[in-house]
Amino acid sequence: MKIDDFGHPGQLVDPETGLVSRRIFTDPGIHRLELTRIFARSWLFVGHDSELPKPGDYLRRVMGDDPVILARGQDGKPRVFLNACPHRGALLCRADAGNAMGYVCPYHGWSFDNTGQLTAMADAPEAYKGRVDLHTFNLLQARVGVHAGLIFATFDPQAPSLDEYLGDARWYIDMLFARTPGGAQALGAPVRWVAQKNWKYGAVNFAADGPHALKTHGPITRKIAAGMPLEVLRTVALEGPAVRAGNGHGCIFVDLPPGMPPWVGFHPDMVGLYQKTLTPGQLKLKANMFNKVMTIFPNLSWVHFPISFASDQPPVNFFNVRVWQPTGPDRTEIWNWFFADREAPDEYKQASLAAGIRTFTAAGTFDQDDAEAWAAIDAGSRGTVGRERMSSFQMILASHDERIADFPGPGEAYRSTYSEMSEFGLLLRWRELMAG
Ligand code: FES
Ligand code: FE
Repeated sequence: MKIDDFGHPGQLVDPETGLVSRRIFTDPGIHRLELTRIFARSWLFVGHDSELPKPGDYLRRVMGDDPVILARGQDGKPRVFLNACPHRGALLCRADAGNAMGYVCPYHGWSFDNTGQLTAMADAPEAYKGRVDLHTFNLLQARVGVHAGLIFATFDPQAPSLDEYLGDARWYIDMLFARTPGGAQALGAPVRWVAQKNWKYGAVNFAADGPHALKTHGPITRKIAAGMPLEVLRTVALEGPAVRAGNGHGCIFVDLPPGMPPWVGFHPDMVGLYQKTLTPGQLKLKANMFNKVMTIFPNLSWVHFPISFASDQPPVNFFNVRVWQPTGPDRTEIWNWFFADREAPDEYKQASLAAGIRTFTAAGTFDQDDAEAWAAIDAGSRGTVGRERMSSFQMILASHDERIADFPGPGEAYRSTYSEMSEFGLLLRWRELMAG
């Protein structure tokens, strides 16, 4: 199967016109090809250092459509294994998380230590009479890379290094995950739920989509967005930069409106740590940051902004991280974490977590809005006529010459979270990889 079977890549995602075929969000064949061309070749987020602090800790995770185990060996190193027995392929690890010296296959009882080495088998190894290389029975191991505590893995031996893959995006990752000496910390295990939509709707939306914030989320945004009137929010969203950080990674910033003091929503004790840790450019953006949303290609996203549920409560930032797992052309399993600075006081972490749970999780107000919008796109784009239509990202045609010359961060920054430049950047990278 090749991408041309579904139409020329240039017609599926067309940089000249800004039009995108709705088949890329609905077609089962394209979905299958994505699993090999995108997910089996990219560095995928599998977990955070803080989720497995001790040797022996393990987590059951997913890469594309493959189950994997993220394990910290007795040597302290994180490793990622295909969660399938090398003998006949049985799922090895069944628990979501735990601590173990190793894993025992439930079928014929072969055993592996937490560095992936075969340690015991039902038949004595001699029974193979030297005809089989027993090393082929060690667990299949992915390449693992860690940046700012974020653990990524890929099964592709040809993939570039993680540093090269993340490239300029590292600067933006560090602004959130490495802004204090202790770095970030996951606040508990991820919550998971299934949504009726293609994984790319979420990934693209989190790479920008300024305008939906005021429309899809209008009523709730008005109520809780740090007391900002909607017209002011619209102005700052229109002016906020959209950044193409290379390799399909993209983000937006929405600045605080003029007159609002810097560091809204941050704990005051943390600001001194940010000042010690971040570069002047990162600090400048951060001090004025109202909203930051980002997608690391292909399917890792985060959103960070201050909210307040009552006028007498100061706004608090929540820090939501999620993965859009591609479980079908019209199904996504969302894995959803909350993070905080490790050094933040416990009561601030609790307030930040509570703010996140009310907004960005399965029953969160923002996620319910988005789920409805994305399911509606799926419903409107799935039919025989509908899937042959094109989706518009034509704001890019008006935005190419709106580059911000003096933006403090790397990559290409364009004026306006409405520009569709960062969203379309993700789709261009998709096109490149799908074309092989
Ligand atoms: Fe695992 Fe046979 S399938 S030991
Ligand atoms: Fe949204």
